[in-house]
Amino acid sequence: SSRVGTLPVMSRAGLDTPKIVPVQPPAKRSTQDFIFGKVIGEGSFSTVYLTKDVHSAKEYAIKVCDKRHIIREKKTEYIKRERDILNMISSAGVPFFVKLYCTFQDNDSLYFVLSYAKNGELLPYINKVGAFDIECTRFYAGEILQALEHLQRLNIIHRDLKPENILLDEKMHILITDFGSGKIVKNDDQSEDSEDETRRRRNSFVGTAQYVSPELLTDKVAHYASDLWALGCIIYQMISGLPPFRARHEYAIFQKILKLEYEFPEEFDSQAQDLVQKLLVLNCNERLGANDKDGYPSIKSHPMFAGLDFARLHLTTPPAIS
Ligand code: ADE
Repeated sequence: SSRVGTLPVMSRAGLDTPKIVPVQPPAKRSTQDFIFGKVIGEGSFSTVYLTKDVHSAKEYAIKVCDKRHIIREKKTEYIKRERDILNMISSAGVPFFVKLYCTFQDNDSLYFVLSYAKNGELLPYINKVGAFDIECTRFYAGEILQALEHLQRLNIIHRDLKPENILLDEKMHILITDFGSGKIVKNDDQSEDSEDETRRRRNSFVGTAQYVSPELLTDKVAHYASDLWALGCIIYQMISGLPPFRARHEYAIFQKILKLEYEFPEEFDSQAQDLVQKLLVLNCNERLGANDKDGYPSIKSHPMFAGLDFARLHLTTPPAIS
């Protein structure tokens, strides 16, 4: 649609002669506006490409979703929710998240134009160095926590937070991605479950086995603190190299999670161990930060984060990963 809108604009004098100045609404984009490069990610309903905007030469990651596949598998509600959440985050203008610039569609596909995270996933960095030193862990755990504060303030639960969904931009700051499992928390707690929420529960959806919280396994209900459980798992993994709950099969991982069956290696930093123990608590209401209302002050004040300037993290040069 190429509507030409009009917007009244006051003249410089202000009060005398209001002028009508025509403005061109941003035209809907199409695949013609981008050069598609290599595949940089794949999901069950989508493929992510590195692309270049032919007009500005800027790079974007474009997530291409197969409409027929989404409709056949009845996932349209998930795709809409993902778009809604990405729009909420993008318009809030908060750092540490992949931004949604625009969407468009053609006969076969939906397209999400996203920020391109030049340095890819956090996971290979953890695997490459074996484990992060305490300074690196403090920094990246701090950025993830700061991101979770933004989500809590926007009434969003990620529900599938893991090192594969934490991407790194050109300056090595985090960009959290993949809100395909995300939830928008309704403001009044009494509200009935939506139809798709009921369907989701019946299908007993969970995120990724290693990072899934016990309440998602037992009650199929996510809390903000479900993302804090995942944060505990990720901090453990940054320090030790492996996630805390490990087994050959998903079912065995779930059993370990429900029994809180994990151990700390001898050399694990003691302050980090104290924080992880306060996040990996079976009862989600007893996790550190679970009762914080505006952000997570009780986690930020943990000795593990002593001296970290949370508000300025995104402006700081990250410590080299080692
Ligand atoms: N893989 C999936 N999404 C991506 C993104 N936005 N940037 C880089 N790699 C990705």
